[in-house]
Amino acid sequence: MNQTRRDMLKLAGLALATGAVPGRALAAPAPQKISIEEFARGVDAVDCLAKNWSAVTARGKSGEVNAMTAGWGGLGNAWKKPVCTVYIGPHYTRKLIDETGRFSISYFEGAHKQELTYLGTHTGAEEKDKIAKAGLHLVDLDGRPAIAEGRWACVCRVLLRHELSAADFIDASIPRDIYGSLGWSVMYCAEIESAWKLS
Ligand SMILES: Cc1cc2nc3c(=O)[nH]c(=O)nc-3n(C[C@H](O)[C@H](O)[C@H](O)COP(=O)(O)O)c2cc1C
Repeated sequence: MNQTRRDMLKLAGLALATGAVPGRALAAPAPQKISIEEFARGVDAVDCLAKNWSAVTARGKSGEVNAMTAGWGGLGNAWKKPVCTVYIGPHYTRKLIDETGRFSISYFEGAHKQELTYLGTHTGAEEKDKIAKAGLHLVDLDGRPAIAEGRWACVCRVLLRHELSAADFIDASIPRDIYGSLGWSVMYCAEIESAWKLS
């Protein structure tokens, strides 16, 4: 754990439990389940995602948990449900999402850039302890895993899965400039099943 993180925990009046297992739950205030309205008031999706990023966490059918950093996405309302949208490339986390149709998103307010950079530049396909190596921890939200260090989180169930291709884009500059060097994203639109305040 780096000094900044130690200082932040100290400032927040938190401490890692003695013998806490990296990658497991922090000794921190219990997550609070909140209404979608409070969640939507708290998470400024544009600011959170563009400036502070988010962490998408999924558990596969064997129980394995992995997480990745995500900067693209949105929150909204569709089919009479509160929804979130994410765009996930051909990453290990996507494999786990596809196995269960479930994931969570933790949203951050500043800080944790270093940890999220690690999470967004290493793959759980090669590093099974990637979350711990990033200096992050899991929190249990009614039986579903999320990254504990976020300020807010939501637990999601996939409603729509669409693998993007060049033909989907009206603006041809996006496939040319963005996907020229990247694998195609899958767009997931997912129901927000529950919303949480983590810190
Ligand atoms: C700041 C930042 C934002 C990112 N946003 C996204 C995103 O929105 N969608 C995506 O597919 N990958 C995104 N990535 C890349 C993944 O997080 C990265 O490929 C990660 O290593 C995948 O991990 P995994 O293989 O363990 O699933 C982002 C990376 C960073 C550093």
